[in-house]
Amino acid sequence: MVKDMRAVVVNEPGGPEALTVTELPDPEPAEDEVVVRVSAAGVNRADLLQRRGFYDPPPGATPVLGLEAAGEVVAVGASVDDSWIGRHVVALLAGGGYAELVAVPVGQVAPMPEGLDEVAAGGLMETAATVWSNVFMTAGLRPGELLLVHGGTSGIGTTAIQMARAAGARVVVTVGTEEKAQVCRDLGAELAIVYREQDFREVLREQGLEPDVILDIMGAKYLDANVRALATNGRLVVIGMQGGVKAELDLGRLLTKRASVTATSLRARPVAEKSAIVADLVEHVWPWVTDGRVRPLVHATYALDEVADAHQVLEDSSHVGKVVLRP
Ligand SMILES: NC(=O)c1ccc[n+]([C@@H]2O[C@H](COP(=O)([O-])OP(=O)(O)OC[C@H]3O[C@@H](n4cnc5c(N)ncnc54)[C@H](OP(=O)(O)O)[C@@H]3O)[C@@H](O)[C@H]2O)c1
Repeated sequence: MVKDMRAVVVNEPGGPEALTVTELPDPEPAEDEVVVRVSAAGVNRADLLQRRGFYDPPPGATPVLGLEAAGEVVAVGASVDDSWIGRHVVALLAGGGYAELVAVPVGQVAPMPEGLDEVAAGGLMETAATVWSNVFMTAGLRPGELLLVHGGTSGIGTTAIQMARAAGARVVVTVGTEEKAQVCRDLGAELAIVYREQDFREVLREQGLEPDVILDIMGAKYLDANVRALATNGRLVVIGMQGGVKAELDLGRLLTKRASVTATSLRARPVAEKSAIVADLVEHVWPWVTDGRVRPLVHATYALDEVADAHQVLEDSSHVGKVVLRP
């Protein structure tokens, strides 16, 4: 018998009021999928873009919003071992987290790390996978190297600081306010630059700091300053374009520094790539989560019916860490 679950969709792109809680048929698992009963689902900045009509789900993905979730496996596809049923897991999603149930390839699911509560677990996967795949797999951050993270108190930023410190690297960040700077210092950043008051490139130069790796969310606006700031052999990884998509790149400066610029997106990667990232997280990052060195900072939780309020928090950027829905 087909049953209906509650889920959040966007019928007409727009502001937070465009988010609509509706009833949809319960998802059935495809052959390689599990169905998770969602107890917590992280809100990500990309969801705001999707709501406004600027970030469509990849082909074949559900129109329901939500890139990550935590919960219990309640059904499995034909080729998935029955022993998954009843396990508490975290899932990296192409969509569908803002719902009571979500279907996801089993490779994108991992056991919930020990010692982490279900709410925090709901906000773990997207940032951990993004930081791991970019800062560690792509940029190859090594112990002792210096990482610059733009937006230190974002969901991504708070995770990046903790993971880099756990790996023995040094961290500097940019943030909007002094209060946020203090949060980042408490998480282990040795310097937090308030970008509204100071030019980060100037501060780094004055202090003789040259980042080996930069995790950038501003795109065009910071491209030149980022390349200028990089150390010799530095790696700039662009994962967000909050400051625009087009800018001039000084190849001469890049060449002299033997530096690189990469831009990546997690959501559209094939299942095999996402599964490899998730397997890496379990091996390398879950031990840091279990021993408490990496923990999602939960700013606030909201019921599914309050999803517009949850989005407004990110719109206002009044949060520190993760906003989490409780479907
Ligand atoms: N490519 C990928 O695969 C991927 C995956 C996940 C996330 N992302 C991107 O990563 C970014 C963070 O995502 P999130 O969900 O963690 O978002 P979030 O929590 O909403 O954070 C956004 C951050 O942007 C910061 N910011 C705004 N203007 C800034 C400026 N001029 N300089 C430095 N920081 C500035 C804000 O800092 P203040 O509040 O201090 O002003 C805030 O911390 C987004 O751009 C998102 O699209 C990309």
